[in-house]
Amino acid sequence: MGCDNNIGVSLASFVLVSSLLLLSPILYVSEAQNYPPIVKGLSWDFYDSICPDVEHIIRNHLKKVFKENVGLAAALLRIHFHDCFVLGCEGSILLDGTAGETSEKLAAPNLNLRREAFKIVNDLRKLVHSRCGRVVSCADIVALAARDAVHLSKGPYYNIPLGRRDGVRIATSDEILADLPPPSFNTTLILITLAPKNFTTTDVVALSGAHTIGRSHCISIADRLFGSSIDPTMDPELAQHLLKLCPDLASINSTTAFMMDPRTPNTFDNKYYINLVNHQGLFTSDQDLYTDNRTRDLVTKFAANQTFFFEKFVEFMLKMGQLSVLTGDAGEIRANCSARNNETYFSTYPVVEGKKWATY
Ligand code: HEM
Repeated sequence: MGCDNNIGVSLASFVLVSSLLLLSPILYVSEAQNYPPIVKGLSWDFYDSICPDVEHIIRNHLKKVFKENVGLAAALLRIHFHDCFVLGCEGSILLDGTAGETSEKLAAPNLNLRREAFKIVNDLRKLVHSRCGRVVSCADIVALAARDAVHLSKGPYYNIPLGRRDGVRIATSDEILADLPPPSFNTTLILITLAPKNFTTTDVVALSGAHTIGRSHCISIADRLFGSSIDPTMDPELAQHLLKLCPDLASINSTTAFMMDPRTPNTFDNKYYINLVNHQGLFTSDQDLYTDNRTRDLVTKFAANQTFFFEKFVEFMLKMGQLSVLTGDAGEIRANCSARNNETYFSTYPVVEGKKWATY
């Protein structure tokens, strides 16, 4: 019955959203959805006068990038998540280490972030800074790239408030481990980990839908295959398939990769939830959303109604994208996304537009 109601509601909202889309994408963003409040210092029109083409530049470049390597869409989306959850959306994940500090990229949860995607972020930064000067932060570039990654993979479009600034601190490995839950966590543990960030049960189910694109490795499913028995909530056929790729404990550090949503691996859709209903979720943190009574109904609803999933996913992304942002005079606008400005002079990374630094 809940499902029928939901389909009715979502049909109405689909009609509403479609008509609003015909009018303007901005109307869709600001009025058709229940948007979370915007934090002080961010705004929808932040770059309108200082870099009006920023979104266009990023989108155009990413279209070319994804044509060459569609997997980078998933990689960019994941970088935004790993940025925002640790110290907030302030680009600390992008920083290389220094003599005294280890880069966040080398912490266990970040080891499988794709290195090519960090290069794309710096390429985007170069393109944007060479057009507008050093006025757009790396943190905003990551947020916009993640939004475009979702939309260019056929997911929802949403506007994002801008004006984030880049941080000057690298998180410790304890901070990273506390903020990024491992895939072996069940729903209870994920809810506990995410509660301090004010994420609701609906957010937790919606955010996991990001696993509709991208890839994974044996290490992330080891708990399900190599416990005292194979996880009984995993479809036996999927288990046999995965055991061919990851045959034993020794294989968990292999570089073998497999798509997280084999139904439509590169399309941002609701098939992830259909996988869960069929016991074909990959991680414990995924599949347990269908086992746990608190989240099972939402999984079923998202599986039945993609529009409803998209609405809730966008709400989550807007909340996540504003976690502990730095605004105003806080932080800086990095000249190179991989290094803080006071380190840039010593960096071996080529900074082509260095002459502009004096102007800002
Ligand atoms: C419950 C929280 C989450 C857990 C435990 C989790 C865990 C993981 C793990 C273990 C992988 C695969 C790593 C590998 O083996 O290579 C992965 C991949 C991925 N995750 Fe999550 N994740 C979570 C939330 C999110 C969120 C909030 C997003 C984005 C909004 C996200 C987006 C992705 C994407 C797109 C990939 C594929 C990356 C690629 O193909 O390079 N995840 N996640």
